[in-house]
Amino acid sequence: MASIAEAVGQTPLVRLERAAREAPSVEVYAKLEFANPGGSVKDRAALRMMTRALEDGRLTSDKILIDSTSGNTGVAYSLFGAALGVRVQLVMPSNVSKARKDITRAFGTEIIFSDPMEGSDGAIHLARDLVAKSPDKYFYPDQYSNPDNPLAHYHGTGAEILDQVGDRITHFVAGLGTSGTIVGTSRRLHEHSRPIRCVAVEPADALHGLEGLKHLGSSLVPQIHDRSAYDETYPVATEQGWDMADTLAREEALHVGHSAGAVVFAAIEIAKKLHKEQQGGCVVCIVPDRGDRYFAPMKWEKRYVW
Ligand SMILES: Cc1ncc(COP(=O)(O)O)c(C=O)c1O
Repeated sequence: MASIAEAVGQTPLVRLERAAREAPSVEVYAKLEFANPGGSVKDRAALRMMTRALEDGRLTSDKILIDSTSGNTGVAYSLFGAALGVRVQLVMPSNVSKARKDITRAFGTEIIFSDPMEGSDGAIHLARDLVAKSPDKYFYPDQYSNPDNPLAHYHGTGAEILDQVGDRITHFVAGLGTSGTIVGTSRRLHEHSRPIRCVAVEPADALHGLEGLKHLGSSLVPQIHDRSAYDETYPVATEQGWDMADTLAREEALHVGHSAGAVVFAAIEIAKKLHKEQQGGCVVCIVPDRGDRYFAPMKWEKRYVW
């Protein structure tokens, strides 16, 4: 392998036997996106947004990649910045956890702090202001409106799932953040000759503790979001996601993040219904990241406590 960037994708699919024991006639598989080198599903989108921009000249060696994320996308930009020789600056509220600052800085990323009172919106506004003032200095990937985000899942995640269980899959379940995963993967799966039902998992409430997921009803709808790409939305409560994340660690040895807990919760509920009504089926769901990413910074007490 010439570069760590080549290690993105081809993630394993693991059957959940114990957690899905109430649906014994249905196969439930988790696609382990934490196996990507940056530890999350966001490696796919970040790498494609960066390599495409390098190919067509939107990103050059004298430009700085700038964005406003302290989460998985920030880690992915930082990793591939180091791998591809691209300077990266991330804007984050100054009160994000030390762990989140350290992980991106480890790769050489520079952090620009925004007003903690303005939260993540303040970081977005500051990044946009900086780009507007010096457009030639920066490459701003903007994962919420960049078509290479869903395309990474169309060509990667969706195609891989069809290779792995294409002859059997009946349902696909993924969380909705920027919507890149659900939109891109569903578009690919819907090209299959058999119908595959694609389900987007959303937090049940506007105020939630499912990091990485978006409650669309109370948020700015991402430009790449395409409701016609998938078949159904499945609301999951924060506690259901957090409890399932605990269960997965203990019963399946999968220590995953809370959005993964929410996605697997929905997948197992769908499997239970299939078991009752049809005595069969095959549900594939996405595990976006690992649980240790949330050790230091987060507590859920009906709101984030940083
Ligand atoms: C932990 C986690 N889960 C789920 C998602 C949602 O993925 P997408 O942005 O492709 O909708 C993200 C994306 O930021 C994430 O970080």
